[in-house]
Amino acid sequence: MKIDLSNKVILITGASSGIGYYLVKKLTSEKVRLAIISRRKELLDELIEELNPLNQQIIAYKCDVRNFEEVKFVYNQIKNDFGQVDIAILNSGVSYRMSESSFEIEKAREIFDTNFFGVVNFVSVMKNDFIEKKSGTIVGVSSLADTRGFPGSGFYCASKSALTTFLESLRIELRKHNVSVITVRPGFVRTPMTDKNEFFMPFLMEPDLAAEIIIKRIKKNKPVIEFPFALSLMVRVLKFMPRSIFEFLASKKLKSRL
Ligand SMILES: NC(=O)c1ccc[n+]([C@@H]2O[C@H](COP(=O)([O-])OP(=O)(O)OC[C@H]3O[C@@H](n4cnc5c(N)ncnc54)[C@H](OP(=O)(O)O)[C@@H]3O)[C@@H](O)[C@H]2O)c1
Repeated sequence: MKIDLSNKVILITGASSGIGYYLVKKLTSEKVRLAIISRRKELLDELIEELNPLNQQIIAYKCDVRNFEEVKFVYNQIKNDFGQVDIAILNSGVSYRMSESSFEIEKAREIFDTNFFGVVNFVSVMKNDFIEKKSGTIVGVSSLADTRGFPGSGFYCASKSALTTFLESLRIELRKHNVSVITVRPGFVRTPMTDKNEFFMPFLMEPDLAAEIIIKRIKKNKPVIEFPFALSLMVRVLKFMPRSIFEFLASKKLKSRL
């Protein structure tokens, strides 16, 4: 069943920058009510000022998605302010390069606490409300990097792979309660997260286009949203490639980057 966005209350994490920022910008033309979340609340306030919402209800909340107590508190605040949440776009994420010479356990924890547990924290506080009202949509922003263990991005790929797997089982469990779970798997999108990458990013996409694709496909209630098409096709080939061939190609690629 298609999703009609009008008058819906949409919660978005990671709205201060990149994909989340553009999702907020695009959604303001949809007559929705928005609860926007990140740690840098000053950026969210600036965004609200820039959008100058006339009759639109947009409220900014400061929250570190890694902290369960904070997530619980902010979710209850949002329910007080808006009455309910209809759609949650759980988009907050971090990425750090990793290699055998720069192997930092703190970075691994931060990546998992944000990319995986940041989503689990919100699902955990919202799930029963969605089940009770027999409606709602949970959108988790994963990545095409969930496909295999790409060298240099081990922690990130592992966190997104865990997230994609979690969302898949959640989708099956919540379907009988009429709650949709959508997995978003972007390829490379030009944002502060990828601005620091020094390697070639095939089919790099602009963030406003990425946001447009995500919103269009959320409306169609697509269970998995992956883009761009060419890169999603490439990673599908990589997924089913025999291990030895994948490892050979990936190590050659890594050498060319060093
Ligand atoms: N860009 C790409 O090529 C790409 C590709 C595939 C998937 N993705 C995924 O898309 C999502 C958005 O990434 P992006 O490229 O837009 O990155 P970005 O520009 O760096 O934005 C990341 C957002 O996450 C928020 N965030 C990070 N840690 C947080 C925390 N502990 N608590 C709350 N919010 C937190 C940041 O806000 P604060 O710092 O203000 O908290 C920021 O708003 C991520 O999940 C990323 O993994 C990106």
